[in-house]
This record gives sequence, C-alpha cells and structure tokens, in this order.
Amino acid sequence: MTGFSSVRLVVQEVRRDVRAAQERDPAATGVAAPGILAAWPGVHALLAHRIAHALARAGIPLLPRAIAYLTRTMTGVEIHPAARIGRGLFIDHGMGVVIGETAEIGDDVTMYQGVTLGGTGFARGKRHPTVQDNVTIGSGAKLLGPITIGHGAKIGANAVVIHDVPPNSTVVGNPGHPVRVDGRRPEGPDADWVHLPDPIADALKQMAGRVAELEREVAALRGEEPDAPAEILRLRPVHGPSPAGG
Ligand SMILES: CC(C)(COP(=O)(O)OP(=O)(O)OC[C@H]1O[C@@H](n2cnc3c(N)ncnc32)[C@H](O)[C@@H]1OP(=O)(O)O)[C@@H](O)C(=O)NCCC(=O)NCCS
Repeated sequence: MTGFSSVRLVVQEVRRDVRAAQERDPAATGVAAPGILAAWPGVHALLAHRIAHALARAGIPLLPRAIAYLTRTMTGVEIHPAARIGRGLFIDHGMGVVIGETAEIGDDVTMYQGVTLGGTGFARGKRHPTVQDNVTIGSGAKLLGPITIGHGAKIGANAVVIHDVPPNSTVVGNPGHPVRVDGRRPEGPDADWVHLPDPIADALKQMAGRVAELEREVAALRGEEPDAPAEILRLRPVHGPSPAGG
C-alpha cells in the first residue's frame, strides 16, 4: 500500500470511529466531530492505533510500539500495533482496555472500560480472540484465548469468556455462559446454571439419613423409644438469585 493510500485509509477509519462515538455514546449527543476528537480517550486510542498499525504494516520498526506505549500512558488503552481492528469500533471511557497482538475485531464493535482481549498463557501464534461485527463487550469483561465471539453477541459486564460465543447471543458470568441465544433462553441439560447438582450436599444428606436409621435401630435394640429424627439442614437454598445474575 502506498503512503498516500495509507493516509487516506486512516482518515476514513478515524471518521467512522468518530461517528461511532456520536451514534453510540449517549453522552456525545449534540457533540460535533472536533469535540469528540478533543475529549474522547477511546477515539484518541483508536486514532493512534490506526497510525501505529499502518506504520507496522509498512515495516517501520520501533515507532509503532512507541506510539502504542505513549497512547497507553495517556488513555489507559493498550492496543498492540499488530491487532487488526475493523471500522467503527467504539471504546467507551477507555481506561483499562487491553487488546492483544493477534486479536481481530470486526466492524461496529462496542466495548467499555476494563475489557481484555488476551491470551490464556504463554502460547505463541494466534492466541487472542476474534470478535465479529456488531458485538458489545461490557465493562471488565475478559475474553481469553483464540476464541470467536459471533456477530451481534453481547458479553455482560465482568464476564470471563474462554469458549466460542454463538452469534446473536448474550453471555454473562464466570465462566461465561449463554443466557440468551437469538433472544431466547437456551434450553437443554446444560442450560440451568442456577440449579446445578451438588454432589457433596447430596452425599451429606444421604449420610444424615443413614445415621438417623442407625439411631432408630440402636434405640429398638435397647428397647427405647427412638428420638425424633435430627433436623437435616439445607446447606444452601435451592432457589434464589444465581451468582451469575440469573
Ligand atoms: C449483558 C447486557 C449487554 C444485556 O444484554 P441483554 O441481551 O439485553 O440481556 P438481558 O438484560 O435480557 O439479561 C439476560 C440475563 O442476563 C443477566 N445479566 C445481564 N447482564 C449481566 C451481567 N453483566 N452479569 C451477570 N448477569 C447479567 C440478566 O439478569 C438476565 O438474567 P435472566 O435470564 O435471569 O433474566 C448488559 O446487562 C451488560 O452487561 N452490559 C454492559 C454495559 C456496561 O458495561 N456498561 C458500562 C457503562 S460505563
């Protein structure tokens, strides 16, 4: 790509990033493009990344990393220069966002502060997520490994996602699990995250039953009246809010 066409591409991308902030940030209502360019840290981070990425692609050493480093100190957003980011990404608030080297982000993605698109360990090669078009990623969500987040998916704030996410679904919690797919609650044996089986509670309940039976037998052998069976306390409520918000 020639220098001129690279500059033209970066300008087009930044225009679309500014428009994304105007369209998707309620706080940007009525704010013109210069206002967004002056005061939106997510837009600053993207502007710098677009330049760093173009320089990295042109084979220029060191400078892209220096730009990424400086941008991080100013915006709190760390984007590796090699990360591939589509058009119209909107990073709301900025601070604490990390986008790794092999991450790929489609068009019109929205992410909030504290989002990590990271690796799971020391593996090399493709090790960061691929996020398809129109995905929303809530604040504090961690997306780890070379997983794919299907188009139109929503990732809840603070979710930890280590598996592929189906398109048009909502995934929440840690570990991240789908609570909506195409607008409907998922069905099937793995779908009920609130009432998971508890083998320890089941074993204790069974043991308490056997102790009560033994007490009855001992009382009968002694010719005594058996005591009323001891109360079996529930270890945890069967109903109630799920820690994942369900
Ligand atoms: C996930 C989210 C995008 C909503 O998506 P949605 O598809 O409209 O989902 P719903 O609101 O219908 O919620 C679906 C279920 O997930 C639960 N849920 C929603 N967000 C959740 C979260 N972050 N963590 C845990 N559970 C969550 C809801 O309680 C609901 O539970 P139910 O199935 O028992 O009714 C939204 O809740 C969210 O987390 N947005 C991030 C916003 C953000 O980060 N803002 C920061 C601004 S500074």
